[in-house]
Amino acid sequence: MTAQLIDGKEVARTVHKALKQRIAALAERGIQPGLAAVLVGDDPASATYVNSKAKACEKLRFYSQVITRPSETTQQELLKIVAELNNNPKIHGILVQSPLPKQIDELAITLAINPDKDVDGFHPHNVGLMLVGRPRLLPCTPFGIIKLMEHYEIDPAGKEVVVVGRSNIVGKPVAAMLMQKGPMANATVTVAHSRSVDLPDITRRADILIAAVGRPGTITPDMIKPGAVVIDVGVNRVEAPETDKGYRLVGDVDFAGCAEKASWITPVPGGVGRMTIAMLMVNTVTAAELITS
Ligand code: GUN
Repeated sequence: MTAQLIDGKEVARTVHKALKQRIAALAERGIQPGLAAVLVGDDPASATYVNSKAKACEKLRFYSQVITRPSETTQQELLKIVAELNNNPKIHGILVQSPLPKQIDELAITLAINPDKDVDGFHPHNVGLMLVGRPRLLPCTPFGIIKLMEHYEIDPAGKEVVVVGRSNIVGKPVAAMLMQKGPMANATVTVAHSRSVDLPDITRRADILIAAVGRPGTITPDMIKPGAVVIDVGVNRVEAPETDKGYRLVGDVDFAGCAEKASWITPVPGGVGRMTIAMLMVNTVTAAELITS
């Protein structure tokens, strides 16, 4: 391997440390940041994410509430839960884990969340503020990607960034954030997706390649420019009968192959995923500050 490793665990620790002062300032005012995570249905990956979020809250001594509901839950029932959390003064951040069962309109739920408590940064109010260059609560994964680059002094200014994937959670917001005028941005951004013609031709232009597709093996070594920075957002479960859990987590990038060609690369696990949770903690503190200011 010739690439240097972008260590999400290490950067997440740094982010937690930097948060301590803000948490202490809130404590002096008698405020304990509070996060509620709502999990509907029995998707095992979602349950794992929600568990990690609750654990992170415990570590930082946040007030944490996990609300689980069966997959038959109606939109009305979920809207009621959100309304209660909006009115709960102990809760500063509300997160409804995605994906939701198909009888529930995700956008209707997002719109119901008080934008000041929208620690996912998914509410159109916060998306709009980010897009016009006045960010308030930023989506956690894109925010985490930018923190990773900042930590390793990988400045995207003037660089060709290629984002593969156009989801509302990662692809679209990370592209929007990196094209902004300002620090840790100013990049020339291309967004490639399932309808792009000749994906390798596009990805080979990237100084910084961000893969957020959700399909293992999407990025192979022939698709990257020598010396590129490779950020792997994918978290995919692949069968591994020899392991205790019966599966292994892999990203969207052929790690071993691409690590021979890249200058920097994120591992899966231990890369972007760690940062998503760390930035959720940052957003919970920001929301607590916003709501109580
Ligand atoms: N599902 C996958 N990633 C996320 C996330 O960042 N937030 C929420 N709420 N659901 C997700």
